Amino acid sequence: MVILKLPDEIERLRTSNGIVAEILTELRERVKPGVTTRELDRLSETLSRKSRVVPAFKGYRGYPFALCTSVNGEVVHGMPSDRPLISGDILSLDFGVIYKGYYGDAAITVPVGTVSATAQRLMKVTEQGLYDGIEQALAGNRLGDVSAAVQRRVEAAGFSVVRDFVGHGIGRSMHEDPQIPNYGVRGRGIQLRPGMVLAIEPMVNEGSYRVKVLSDGWTVITEDGRLSAHFEHSVAIMENGPEILSRIQ
Ligand code: MF3
Ligand code: CO
Repeated sequence: MVILKLPDEIERLRTSNGIVAEILTELRERVKPGVTTRELDRLSETLSRKSRVVPAFKGYRGYPFALCTSVNGEVVHGMPSDRPLISGDILSLDFGVIYKGYYGDAAITVPVGTVSATAQRLMKVTEQGLYDGIEQALAGNRLGDVSAAVQRRVEAAGFSVVRDFVGHGIGRSMHEDPQIPNYGVRGRGIQLRPGMVLAIEPMVNEGSYRVKVLSDGWTVITEDGRLSAHFEHSVAIMENGPEILSRIQ
């Protein structure tokens, strides 16, 4: 069941997601060779405290960190570590908070130092796929319109869309209905309505879309070891079009 949000609920989601966007921006500025993902995790906690929000991921189903940091062939849910980042890595930062009971959730992928042309293109296409999906997040459209738009952009570039993980509705819970695959068929799925808030989050692989979960129970990696990128925005469907709640101001 999809929960529609009232204007005052959307206002809280605007705040929670706005804070996520600000914190991701600060984290991105700190990313460079030599920095560890554990330092970024600690910084995300410090910044959350300053903004008087609660990091949403820590403790969620037993996840032990505030931030997910997925490097290179890690797709999502990578765990912060003491291994320093090196030039040429790509790093996905996925972060969420709770503000007055409402969740914010967004993700970006950023280069560390100088990265390959392929890595740059993978990141760019993944973000473009996200924006193509958002463009279809219109009242009256179908969920499949969003999914198909993401898939089209990704596959036209020769990359692949991860199947095993999807986006989600967001509100008083981090994960609400509907599930939002990044692949699908135009015209299919539920009809989108004003008041829906969707976390759209394409995970895009350089090679095969197949992934596996490491024995730590969290880290998702590409089966072929090639690169993966991830971008996520939480988007409110308004009468006059999509509003990106987690847009960086
Ligand atoms: N952005 C991720 C998601 O939407 C965050 C979940 S990671 C977890 O699923 F650690 F919180 F589980
Ligand atoms: Co999410």
